[in-house]
Order: sequence, then C-alpha cells, then structure tokens
Amino acid sequence: MCGIIGIASNKPVSINIINSLKKLEYRGYDSAGLATLNQNEINEKKCSGRVEELEKILFKNPSDGNLGIGHVRWATHGIPNQINAHPHSSEIVSVVHNGIIENSDELKKNLELKGSKFKSQTDTEVITLLITDELKKNNPVKSVFNTLKQLKGSFALGIIFKSYQNIIIGARRGSPLAVGYSKDENYLGSDSYALKSMTNKISYLDDGDLCVLSKDKIDFYNNEEKKINKKVYTLSDDENISDKGDYKNFMSKEIFEQPITAKNCINEYIDSLKKDINIYNFPVKPEDMNKIVLIGCGTAFHSCLIAKYWFEELTNIEVEIDIASEFRYRKLKFNSKNLYIFVSQSGETADTAAALDICKKNNMKTCSIVNAVESTIARNSDWVLPIHAGPEIGVASTKAFLGQMIVLFILSLKLAKIRKDIDLPSYDKHIKNLKVLPIAIEKCLKTENKVQSMAKEFLDAKGSMFLGRGLSYPIALEGALKLKELSYLHAEGYPAGEMKHGPLALIEEGLPVIVIAPKDKYFEKTLSNMQEVIARGGKILFISDHKKELIDENIRFSIKVPSLDKLLSPILLTVPIQLLAYHVAILKNCDIDKPRNLAKSVTVE
Ligand code: G6P
Repeated sequence: MCGIIGIASNKPVSINIINSLKKLEYRGYDSAGLATLNQNEINEKKCSGRVEELEKILFKNPSDGNLGIGHVRWATHGIPNQINAHPHSSEIVSVVHNGIIENSDELKKNLELKGSKFKSQTDTEVITLLITDELKKNNPVKSVFNTLKQLKGSFALGIIFKSYQNIIIGARRGSPLAVGYSKDENYLGSDSYALKSMTNKISYLDDGDLCVLSKDKIDFYNNEEKKINKKVYTLSDDENISDKGDYKNFMSKEIFEQPITAKNCINEYIDSLKKDINIYNFPVKPEDMNKIVLIGCGTAFHSCLIAKYWFEELTNIEVEIDIASEFRYRKLKFNSKNLYIFVSQSGETADTAAALDICKKNNMKTCSIVNAVESTIARNSDWVLPIHAGPEIGVASTKAFLGQMIVLFILSLKLAKIRKDIDLPSYDKHIKNLKVLPIAIEKCLKTENKVQSMAKEFLDAKGSMFLGRGLSYPIALEGALKLKELSYLHAEGYPAGEMKHGPLALIEEGLPVIVIAPKDKYFEKTLSNMQEVIARGGKILFISDHKKELIDENIRFSIKVPSLDKLLSPILLTVPIQLLAYHVAILKNCDIDKPRNLAKSVTVE
C-alpha cells in the first residue's frame, strides 16, 4: 500500500503534492510527508496521521521548491509515528517507498557495520542509505540501479537528490507506478487517479523499469539499464468524477449511486436491440472450456463465491474459487482449457496480481474483471471485462462489488448461451430481469430508515452473526466483513446450515443475528436454522424478499427487498447489509471512508 507522488515543475510544487496526497489517502493514512528541493537543500516535513495534519504544518511553515516527492503511509515496518513517516532522507538523498523490502534486516546489519546510523524502524531507510553510499562513486541513475540489485521484495520508489536539483527518479518492482505528462511539469504517482487533476496523459512503469523525470522530459530504462519508450495513454473524462457532492462521505455516495452503477454496467453489456450480451472473443472457446477458476481478495473474493453458484446453476462448466493469497502458493494443476478469472476493483491488489502472473507463466488464459481499466491486472490479462462503476473512493467496497456481481452474472449467462447450457426463453427472461434490476436496487435503498433503526441493536452487542444459505451465504460473509471493516465490531458470516457445527455456541441472549433469507429453495431450511438461534436467545434481524406476515413473531426487525429472479437476489440483498454496516459505524462515530488499519488498494503481500 502507501501512496507516492512526485512533481518536477517550473513553479512551487508543495500545494499540488498535498492535493495529490489527499487523493492517495485511500492507499494508507497512518502518516504523511513530503520533501522538496530548494536552494540546494532537501526540505523534509512529515507527521503521523492524515494529510490534513501535514497541510497544517505547511500552512505555518511553507515548503518552497519546484521539485518534490510526497507520501502517505500504511505501516508495515515500524509503528505509524512521525519518525517512521516517509520521506526517509539522508544529507543528500530523500526516498518515498511503497512495498516491502524483504531483506531489509540483512541490509541494515551490513550498513551498520559500515558505520551507517538508522533513525527509523522502517525497511525504507536502507534504500536511502544504500543510495547515499552509491552516490559517492556513481551518478544518480547508476546509484539507484545498483541499489535495486541489492533489494529483495516488491516496491515502488520516488527519489530526489540534493545535488541534482532537476530530477526525480522513480522505480518499480511489483508495486504500481505511473508517470504523467504536462507542459513544463511532469509527475510520478502510485496511480493515475492521483494525477488526474493535473494531466490525462499517462504512462505506466512495468516491473524492473526506472524513470528519470525532469520538468520537461521523462526518460525510461528497463531492468537491463537500456533506454526504452513507453506507450502514452489518454485517460477518459468520466473517471474524473470523484467528488462526494452533497453526501457526508464517499461511502454513502457510492451506496446510493448503485442504481446508476448497475444501469451503466448493464447498458455496456446488453445490446437492447438484439436482446443479447455484447461479450465476444473468449480467450478459451466456451464449448471446449474445462473449468473456470475465479480468484480475488476481500470483497472481490465474495463476488467470486457468488459467481460460483451462478456458473454452476447456468452452465455445465466446473468451477473453482480461490483467495489470491492462497492460490499463489498452492501446488496447482494447470489445464490450457481452463479460464482463470481475476476479480479486483483496483486491479492493483498484490496477491491477485501475483496469482495472475503465475497463470501467465504457465501459459494459461486469463480474464480480469476490474474497475480500474488502466491497472496492472487489467494490462496483464488476456481479456478484460470492466465493471464501469467509476472511481470508488470509500475503503470498504460497495458499488464495485455490485458491478463485479453484475458482470459475473452476465458472463455466466453468455457462456451458458454459447454452450447451449440454457434454453432461449430462460436466457431472454434473465436479460429482461437485468433490465429492471436498477429500479429494484433503487427500491432497496428505500429500506434505509428501517435499517437505521436496526443499527441501534448493535451498539451494546458483543458481536454479531450473519447467516445465509446458497447465494445468500456469500452475502452473509460480505455483511460480516462490511460490519467489521466499518464499525470494528466482531462479526461472523456463516452458511446457516453450518451453525450447529460450532458457531451456535456463540449464541446468547440478545446477540444480533442477521438472517438473509430470500424465498428460494433454501428458504424453509434457513427458517429452521433461525429457530435454532431463537431458541437460544439470539435477536433476529431478518432480510428477505418475502412478505413479512409469514415470518416468525420472534423477529426483532425485518427488511424486505423487492422480489426479482432468485438468481439476482444477492445483488438486492447486498444493499441493506451495506446500509447496516454504514449506520452502525455512523452511530459509533467511526471514520466511514477511512476505517482504522485498512487501505483501499493493498499492494503488499
Ligand atoms: C482491500 C479493500 C477491500 C477490497 C480488497 C480487494 O482490502 O479494503 O475493500 O475488497 O482490498 O481489493 P481489490 O481492489 O482487488 O478488489
């Protein structure tokens, strides 16, 4: 994680560094810092906490200079205090770093033997001191290349030099890094989003690349230290919409945007005239497909889990799912007729990107379902299906999850049609249902007042449990994850039928248990599991598309979502569980968009 920015300009850069760091805070917000070059001096300022704090420091004591680097941190090595905040500077060099240096202990020992003194507990400081040492005999580019050769791990770096006033060096291995071009100004950034307010012309560094930025040019080198050219991308305008408008926070905006997210995504993939799905050029011929393997992390993994039910229900293809951090280290059996699907909002999650690399190295066909189409995962896959959700800023994923589910459902439907695993009337019926889905999502948002009352039940709770079966099981997992992320309350998500094998022991008088039970083939079974909870004193909060009157009097609260096709129920049931986590967190006064200890884009292992 962590966010990096660098600006080389013909005018002072500190304000733009601060503005860009604010955009990068989704990557980490434990501490912030910047270093500018002015009158042959490195001027470093840093603090623990948010960019706001750094801004206050600069307000009292401005940093001049037409060239500088900035950083927001998600702590890995060393507690999030001021000393451990980046940049890490010596007399002659200043470094910002995203990633982990795995051999930092060994490098540190060697440097200490040579007399180097460390100020922080970070792995980053070894980079500063190695470059400082190299600069005694080499120019900056050679010094950085020599340093990179000694580093193990994954990283992106931004580096400035006291004696080379007009350059910033950027380097990438594993962690993402982009550069941006403008008139009399060039940029380095962890992602294109941070640079968008300044330019829409972007290039991306590949693994092993190094770049040298000055205000009027950018040179690129590959890991063999040879000069290379880079493709320049023009970013689309719609990706600039990243204002929270009248909403209190990005998360509520993103939850309430979901009818539009769904509409945009469906319009992109459904050809209304032909009543067909616009998905072509499958990298593996659908008729010959042996297996689909779906891989993701966090919320994206939950959409993989839902998709498993859909692919199994609609097609005859075997389906496997995996958490990327597990997949990447397993002994895998590859088959060229398998399709590997990687689901990621950011397209930068380190474990998912590494899992994709493994598949590519084994010559497997890969597909990515991403929100950020210029991301590493999208660029490295054979086939990309964007979710068209627009920027998602709140750390807890909401509208991107919804978009992922919609694309995965549409993909399963298209595969089923090509393979003739589904009859045409059923196919047409599903397309029709998709068209009314945005209106149904809109109705789900109307449950907010009721959900708000329900949220109060969690204030004195020791913990909570989310239960569902079939397609509602992943929603139970997602409900528990959202509540943990946002309100720091312990929550468990379980398949309702599994309760009796252990978790039932947790049920005691008044424990909130959220039962997610659409009227599908599991409905009666879920109600029986609910009775087992009621019998032990659990407080039931019921979410269903079924009429309330039929349900038990022991239910404390019930939320009804519209009834649509059963296969689409997870999409609708997601909305109240998002609202629930949101309102519990509001009542507990938590930071909604930046929950403690988390980051939106996890670019470390
Ligand atoms: C982080 C975020 C989660 C997200 C996960 C995977 O943990 O906080 O909200 O689900 O990463 O991210 P991705 O960008 O790959 O979907």
